[in-house]
Amino acid sequence: MVPRLGIGVIGLGWMGQAHSRSYLRIPTLFPERGFEPDLVICGDSVDARRDEALRSFRFPEAVADWRAVVAHPAVDVVTVCAPNMLHVEMCEAAAAAGKHVFCEKPVGGTPEQTARIERAAREAGVITGVGYNYRWAPLVRYAKQLIDDGDLGEITNYRGRFFSMYGADPLGLLSWRFLHDQAGYGVSTDILSHAVDLAHLLVGPIDRVVATGETFIEQRPLPKPGEGTHYDRGAPDDPMGEVTNEDYMGALAVFAGGARGTFEASRAIFGPQSQMAFEVYGTKGALAWNLETMNEMQLFLADDRHFHDGYTTVYAGDRYPYHGRFVPGDANSIGYEDLKVIEDYEFLSSVARGEAHEPGFDHAIDYVSVQAAMMRSWESGHWEDVVSVRIG
Ligand SMILES: NC(=O)c1ccc[n+]([C@@H]2O[C@H](COP(=O)([O-])OP(=O)(O)OC[C@H]3O[C@@H](n4cnc5c(N)ncnc54)[C@H](O)[C@@H]3O)[C@@H](O)[C@H]2O)c1
Repeated sequence: MVPRLGIGVIGLGWMGQAHSRSYLRIPTLFPERGFEPDLVICGDSVDARRDEALRSFRFPEAVADWRAVVAHPAVDVVTVCAPNMLHVEMCEAAAAAGKHVFCEKPVGGTPEQTARIERAAREAGVITGVGYNYRWAPLVRYAKQLIDDGDLGEITNYRGRFFSMYGADPLGLLSWRFLHDQAGYGVSTDILSHAVDLAHLLVGPIDRVVATGETFIEQRPLPKPGEGTHYDRGAPDDPMGEVTNEDYMGALAVFAGGARGTFEASRAIFGPQSQMAFEVYGTKGALAWNLETMNEMQLFLADDRHFHDGYTTVYAGDRYPYHGRFVPGDANSIGYEDLKVIEDYEFLSSVARGEAHEPGFDHAIDYVSVQAAMMRSWESGHWEDVVSVRIG
C-alpha cells in the first residue's frame, strides 16, 4: 500500500500556487511514485488567496493563521512559501511539531536565520528540502554529468549570474522583496542564491570572495495593503517608501578546487529579463546555459575536432533526465513549473523513503555562508574567507 503524504502549504502566492499545482500533477507524471500526495490545508493571511485555495486548488481547508497548518494532525509535510523573514518562525514551528519541511529558497531572510532554521530541523530529525529548482532542469543535470565525467577537463573558471528586470522600473511597487524587515537582504537573498547554488552543484565549494553591492533605486511607490507583487507598477503621484535592501551584488570568487569565478545579480537592470545563467570553462571544453532559453545548452568540446566551429547547441529532449516525463522526442520544450514538479516529486520521494534530501537545509547553509562572506567583503572592501554559519 502506497503511503499517503499529507501536505500543508503556507503562503499561496506565486510559489505556494506553483507547489500546489505540482502536488496535483505528480500522480500522472510519476506513476511509479512511492507515495500519494494529499493536499490537506493551506494557510494565507489574504482572504482572496484562501478562496483560491478552496475553489481552484481544492484544499479541503484554508486558514488565516499558519499555525493551524503546522498543527494539523493529517499534515506530514509543511511547504513554506511565505516572505523570507517569516520562514524562521514557520520552519521552527513545523520542525518542533515533527513535520518534514520544504522551504522556498534561500530559507530565511539572513544567514543567521538560515542557521537557526537548519539547527531546528536537524535537532528535530525531520527531512528538509529547499527550492533551488534550477538544479532539476534536464540540461543542468546533463551539464553536471559532463563535468563529473571529466568531459570539460579540469575546471578553470565559472561565471554565474541572475539578471532580472523585475525592479528596473522606478515605478515598480515597493513589494516585500524590497524591504529588509520582510525579505531580509535584497538580490543576494532573492536571486543570487540560485546562481551560487548552481555553482556549488556543478563545481563545488567556494573558499574566498571579494564583493560589492548597491541600491540603485532608493524609493518606490507603496502598494495597497494585500495587493501588488514585484511585477506590478504604481503611478508617479503615488505615495513613496524607502527601499531597504540591495538591488545589485557582484563578487569574484576562488573555489576550493582552484577554479576562479564571478557572480553577479541585479533586479534593476534593463535588457536581461530572467537571465539565470552560468558558463563553465575547463581545460578540455566549456558549456553555457541560460534560463531564458532553458531548453538549449551551448557546448564546446575541444577533442571533438570541431573546435574551429565554436559552440554546438544542444537541445533538450527525452534523452536527458526527466524531460520525457513531460514531452517525448527532441526539442519539444518544457517550462519553469515543470522544474517545480520534479523538485516536489524528488522531495516527497525522499520523505517516503525516510532519507535525507538534496538540496536540503544543509545546502541552504552552504549558500548563506558564501552570502555572509560577500556581505562582510562589501563592508570591509577586502577578500573574505567563506566560513560556515552552521550552528553546532
Ligand atoms: N524558487 C524560485 O524560483 C522562487 C521564485 C519566487 C519566489 N521564491 C521564494 O518563495 C517565497 C515566496 O515568494 P512568492 O514570490 O511566492 O511571494 P508572494 O508574495 O507571491 O506570495 C507570498 C504569500 O505569502 C502570504 N503571506 C504573507 N504573510 C503571511 C502570513 N503571516 N501567514 C500566511 N501567509 C502569508 C501572502 O499573502 C502571499 O500569498 C520567498 O521565500 C521567495 O524567495 C522562490
